[in-house]
Amino acid sequence: MTSSVHKTLASELPYPPLVHETPAMEAAVTALIDRVFGPGRFAKSSERLREGNTLLADCSFVALRDGKPVGCCRMWPVTIGGEPVAFLGPLAVDPDERSAGLGQALVESACEAARAAGWRAVLLVGDGPYFGRVGFTNGHTAGVVMPGPVDQRRVLLLPLKEARDEGLEGLVAIDPRA
Ligand SMILES: CC(C)(COP(=O)(O)OP(=O)(O)OC[C@H]1O[C@@H](n2cnc3c(N)ncnc32)[C@H](O)[C@@H]1OP(=O)(O)O)[C@@H](O)C(=O)NCCC(=O)NCCS
Repeated sequence: MTSSVHKTLASELPYPPLVHETPAMEAAVTALIDRVFGPGRFAKSSERLREGNTLLADCSFVALRDGKPVGCCRMWPVTIGGEPVAFLGPLAVDPDERSAGLGQALVESACEAARAAGWRAVLLVGDGPYFGRVGFTNGHTAGVVMPGPVDQRRVLLLPLKEARDEGLEGLVAIDPRA
């Protein structure tokens, strides 16, 4: 495919192009997440897996409109019972950009990057009806223990190496190698 075809397809998308998150975007991406989730986000169990962790920059994506982040999907290295997996979140889309497919495109890009980087699976805490569209399920997460209170039905996994990854269980923790 030629670069001109790429440009045509990108310009036809109803949302801005996705790029990898870089350290220079940190403050603007954090401001977007703060706007979308509000201060309550710091109380979430998921936040325990992000504080002090190191972003997986090669699997984290940002949508830029006029150079400003309007959507983001971050990924972090964690372990489930000692097994390394990628942890997705936050996923945030500016209210003005919603229902154009941007959220799904961000999740798909992050998961494809995680697959390419060799991660076994992607874990997240989120709404099954939304993330089920891209293959996440709580079918095999009953034994996955988040580090704090959580609605267990919202603990979702996307296997990247096997169609059904049933062997993941135990406490979720920041990957000590991060
Ligand atoms: C969830 C979110 C990322 C979706 O972004 P988006 O760019 O609008 O997503 P898409 O365009 O791919 O999909 C939009 C569709 O998903 C549906 N949807 C959005 N949130 C949903 C949810 N929690 N459960 C089920 N469906 C949902 C919308 O109704 C919409 O349907 P429509 O196209 O018929 O209007 C965005 O609404 C957001 O930032 N919400 C606040 C933060 C949040 O909840 N993040 C996810 C948890 S980590």
